[in-house]
Amino acid sequence: MEYKTLNNGLKMPMVGLGVYNIPEKETQRVVEDALSVGYRSIDTAAMYENEKGVGDAVRACNVPREGLFKAIGVSNFYPNTFPMIVKDTKIMPVVNQCEAHVLYQQRKMREYLKPYDVALEAWSPLAEGRSSIFKDKTLVGIGEKYGKTSAQIALKFLVQNDIIIIPKTTHKERMVENISLFDFTLTDDDLAAIRRLDTGRNVTGWPSDALRYEPASVDWPSAVNYFVLT
Ligand SMILES: NC(=O)c1ccc[n+]([C@@H]2O[C@H](COP(=O)([O-])OP(=O)(O)OC[C@H]3O[C@@H](n4cnc5c(N)ncnc54)[C@H](OP(=O)(O)O)[C@@H]3O)[C@@H](O)[C@H]2O)c1
Repeated sequence: MEYKTLNNGLKMPMVGLGVYNIPEKETQRVVEDALSVGYRSIDTAAMYENEKGVGDAVRACNVPREGLFKAIGVSNFYPNTFPMIVKDTKIMPVVNQCEAHVLYQQRKMREYLKPYDVALEAWSPLAEGRSSIFKDKTLVGIGEKYGKTSAQIALKFLVQNDIIIIPKTTHKERMVENISLFDFTLTDDDLAAIRRLDTGRNVTGWPSDALRYEPASVDWPSAVNYFVLT
């Protein structure tokens, strides 16, 4: 695992597990599997209605809790709204979690966040599997060179661009696949080829674009909290 040093000095794993859409009954097992194969960062939210399963897994696991940290991250803040949160709270968040994947690479957002030293964290880093992303010829072709899957190439592109990722999966073998990203490096040519996949647009149907252009029209919680077990 590689770590990103946040603007408060804490280190956050580059890969965490997202638990959106995992049924409450299955969540404890999924999070226990993730912790057992090395995940130490879990992305959860009240609206996923499975926080109890996450909590039960954390309670049941043997991972020491001293490393539990209280860094504050935000989600879905765009250049038109991000300055407001900083001004109103007087706290610089450590991450801003936004939709980002090979089909929507958030290049402007990455440049925008740099001077604030706020890390970009990608939600839906696999684009929810949309647009036949796993069959994409560029990703499959590059994967063949390294003995990696298209999913791993899509995730590695983000990590190599210093973007924290939280792919969701309920399958233990895919959990392992999604963190097995640190034994190869994409070349400049690989990166350039993947950059060409960028559509510059939201593909998941979540209101990312509405938040960007008409934030007042969107009524859903944007704050997220993080814990990391060491
Ligand atoms: N803050 C926000 O507004 C916001 C919005 C959306 C999501 N999120 C967070 O971001 C997390 C990730 O996003 P997401 O769940 O929307 O989508 P995602 O991680 O981009 O994609 C998940 C989909 O990809 C499949 N998958 C995962 N690994 C795979 C692999 N190695 N090979 C093939 N298929 C694979 C999963 O299926 P299986 O489960 O069957 O493996 C699932 O269908 C969420 O769980 C949530 O925590 C935050």
